[in-house]
Amino acid sequence: MASNRFVILGIAVILLPTIAMATEYIVGDDKGWNIGVDYQAWAKDKMFNVGDSLVFQYDASKHNVVKVNGTAFKDCLAPPDAGLLTSGNDTIVLQTAGNKWYLCGKVGHCAKGQKLSISVMDMSAPQPSPSSAARGIVFSGSFQLLASAFVLLKAFV
Ligand SMILES: *[C@@H]1O[C@H](CO)[C@@H](O)[C@H](O)[C@H]1NC(C)=O
Ligand SMILES: *[C@@H]1O[C@H](CO)[C@@H](O)[C@H](O)[C@H]1NC(C)=O
Repeated sequence: MASNRFVILGIAVILLPTIAMATEYIVGDDKGWNIGVDYQAWAKDKMFNVGDSLVFQYDASKHNVVKVNGTAFKDCLAPPDAGLLTSGNDTIVLQTAGNKWYLCGKVGHCAKGQKLSISVMDMSAPQPSPSSAARGIVFSGSFQLLASAFVLLKAFV
């Protein structure tokens, strides 16, 4: 029983930083994904990181969501229908850092402001894993040195 609790505690300690880091943003909060919401104002004070997700909630008979490039965003051009999200409750996990652009592909909606542009940062970039990998290389390097010294020693004897 006690050891079970330790296992659970151990798992929690491992998972906790990941859970604490990933934020789920409901786009537009309680206003959802609609016409008449200022999404730049909504995004302005938020910090988007890799691993966070955007949840677009909307009336599926009226709106949709599509990820576009910066040019298409500026000109409100929805691509024919590639990558169109239409469930009314779409979660997009932010996989990479950089600028991301989304708009509603329904005619005229983007021009009326149903568009969102965000900048995603990679907060996990300075991770401890590369340094421990480097340590591994150093360790195996010194082991090789030791091994070759041993071979050299044997050759002399
Ligand atoms: C941006 O997206 C539009 C519409 O899908 C496409 O026609 C255009 O080639 C893209 N531009 C760049 C620079 O990828
Ligand atoms: C939206 O989907 C998420 C899971 O992706 C679910 O937890 C949530 O309850 C859904 N919300 C609505 C309003 O359907």
